[in-house]
Amino acid sequence: MEPYKELEEKYAAFAGSTHAVSCSSGTAALHLSLLAFGVGAGDEVIVPDFCMAACAFAVSYCNATPVFVDVLPDTYALDPALLEVAITPRTKAIIVVHTYGRLADMDAIIAIAKRHSIPVIEDACEAQGAVHASKADVTVYSFFRNKIIPAEEGGLITTESEHIVERANFLKSMAFNTEHDYFHTEIGYNYRMPDAEAVLALASLRAYEANVAKRTAIEAWYDQYLTQPMPKRDAVWFYEVNVPSNAKEAILAAIPRARHSFKPLSSLPMYGSGAGKPVSRALSESLLLLPAWTDLIESDVRDIAERVNGLI
Ligand SMILES: Cc1ncc(COP(=O)(O)O)c(C=O)c1O
Repeated sequence: MEPYKELEEKYAAFAGSTHAVSCSSGTAALHLSLLAFGVGAGDEVIVPDFCMAACAFAVSYCNATPVFVDVLPDTYALDPALLEVAITPRTKAIIVVHTYGRLADMDAIIAIAKRHSIPVIEDACEAQGAVHASKADVTVYSFFRNKIIPAEEGGLITTESEHIVERANFLKSMAFNTEHDYFHTEIGYNYRMPDAEAVLALASLRAYEANVAKRTAIEAWYDQYLTQPMPKRDAVWFYEVNVPSNAKEAILAAIPRARHSFKPLSSLPMYGSGAGKPVSRALSESLLLLPAWTDLIESDVRDIAERVNGLI
């Protein structure tokens, strides 16, 4: 069996889904999902204001408009109460993101989406392993090298819908028809996953249990050594910490693999340069990411935690 097909089979089983479609990146998986739901010019798609920009970019690729909705301060995910009021007759899809390994309240979000007959695209790129038997219409994943199940690059969609599988497979491979006679009826994309990437992703999938054990140990060390530990995550990707905003730059400078958190998407220049939604702005100012790479040992984590403790 070709490696990309084997990955689709194994990942569908891993995620408790009927179908999986591999593709070239998590961003491509988002774009293909939106295209499969027919999102196009004039449509609106709800996107959390605090999440990876790929979610808004994929909407823009469709010439649709991302409508940014604020998030909850504890899960960093879409606030269901604000979601409900952001829906308009033009809303064609809702993108929900499990940011930094914390799961969104899917039951509340899916109940709202069902009431309005709007499909839900669940982005689990930062929460691989924590989503099982999803009730969303589509769940997207990334195999970028910093992810919990890494390759070099790569993406994947899981779904229960044969229609989504058909559309995603068609569009990701240049919209070739079954005769492969170069009579294209739609604009297609080259979003196929190379087999070399699938081989890497399969190896990471096999190593998943061991890697999760390592990441969980790293999380526990941070919990032990930080004076202000964070609540447990559903999946350990990075270890995000809440710090005073005036200490952020010093911490980032002191810890080589620490990273900034997201900027509110509505504050980015292509989306209006606004102030950002209030909770998203506050999270952006107070959160930063500490490394949780599987090569870290206890003394590394203790050292990082002590530096953070000393700077806050
Ligand atoms: C939440 C989220 N969505 C989408 C993406 C895009 O994935 P990729 O980098 O594989 O395009 C990422 C990661 O980069 C992500 O963290």
